[in-house]
Parts: sequence; C-alpha cells; structure tokens
Amino acid sequence: MTLLIVSGSARRGSLNTRLARLLAAAVPHGEVRVEHDLRRLPFYDGDLEAAGVPAAVEDLRAAVAAADAVVIVTPEYNGTVPGLLGNTVDWLSRPAGRSVLRDKPVVVCSASPTRFGGVRAAEHLRAALVRVGARVAAGPAVAAVHERLEADALVDELGRQLAAALQEVLGDQSAAVPA
Ligand SMILES: Cc1cc2nc3c(=O)[nH]c(=O)nc-3n(C[C@H](O)[C@H](O)[C@H](O)COP(=O)(O)O)c2cc1C
Repeated sequence: MTLLIVSGSARRGSLNTRLARLLAAAVPHGEVRVEHDLRRLPFYDGDLEAAGVPAAVEDLRAAVAAADAVVIVTPEYNGTVPGLLGNTVDWLSRPAGRSVLRDKPVVVCSASPTRFGGVRAAEHLRAALVRVGARVAAGPAVAAVHERLEADALVDELGRQLAAALQEVLGDQSAAVPA
C-alpha cells in the first residue's frame, strides 16, 4: 500500500510533523511518503493557475493520485484549519470536478498541546474534503501532544487507530491495511 502523510505545519520542531513521522513508523509495510513542507506551494489564485499550474502543485497532485490513501495531520489555528493547509486543499480541489481528491480515501488526524487535540480543525478539514468528493474518515486527535510524543504506548495506540480509519475509507481494498 502506498500512503501519503501530509503535515499541516511546516515549522521546524512541529509537533504535527513529529506525529506524522510517528504515524509513518506505525505502518510496517508498504511505501510511505511524508510531506512536511507545504510552504513550497504558492498561495492559490486564479491568475496563477491560468498562467500554468506551479511544479510544486503538480508534484503534490501526482503524489496524491499515486497514493492508495492520504493521511493529513493538522494543527488547529484559531479554532480551524491553518491557512497553509487550507491553501493546499484549495490547490488540490482544482480543477473543479476533476480533483485528485475525488473518491480518494483520506484520514484526517489532528494534534494540539491543548486538551482538545485540534478536533475543531479536524472537523472543518473533513467537511472541506467531503465537499471536494474525498472518502473521509476521522483518525486520531492527539491532545496534550507535547507530553505524549515520547510515549511508546502512543505509537501502538496510533497504529491501531490509523489502521481502523484506513479500513473505514479503503473499503474493499482494506485487506491491504497492515494489522
Ligand atoms: C495562530 C495560532 C493559533 C492557534 N490556535 C489554536 C487553537 O485554536 N486551538 C489549539 O488547540 N491550538 C492553537 N494554537 C496552538 C497550536 O496548537 C500549537 O502552536 C501547535 O504546536 C501548532 O502545531 P505545530 O507544533 O505542528 O506547529 C494556535 C497557535 C497559533 C500559532
């Protein structure tokens, strides 16, 4: 199985990127790519798109198209999805009606140092992805993530939650999901 894991934070030391890497490690088989720097995508605007889709966008679209499933790990900014990730969804949603996210299995995870684990951002992101036509499932929302990343138990727990969410979105292909 080919998995693309996307972190919604590009900062050095990002807790979400660390979580994305832990999730990647929890997938024992298959090919996993972690996309950790969404800053390489310029801000979406229609003029830029009309002038020619930027190479970084084409590259990410190709990675999404090639993946059996996409896992997104989002931080929460002001109760919603950070602009960096919103911009990424905007690019991936285009061209309208022919998005690479259409029918794509996507698992949405979140993490925050607070006790809520970024659930509002995850909810908003799931809603946007459903609107684009993706097959979406809720993955883990990790609260107090700064205290938990070192715990071995977290990797096991995340592995189980990720496998369950992947099975939900992959349907018939779920035999490919590692136990
Ligand atoms: C502009 C901004 C807004 C934030 N708003 C929220 C929020 O609404 N909910 C929350 O749980 N954390 C919020 N935080 C704290 C982030 O969860 C925290 O900075 C987290 O570490 C960001 O993810 P990262 O470590 O992957 O970069 C906010 C942080 C920033 C910079």
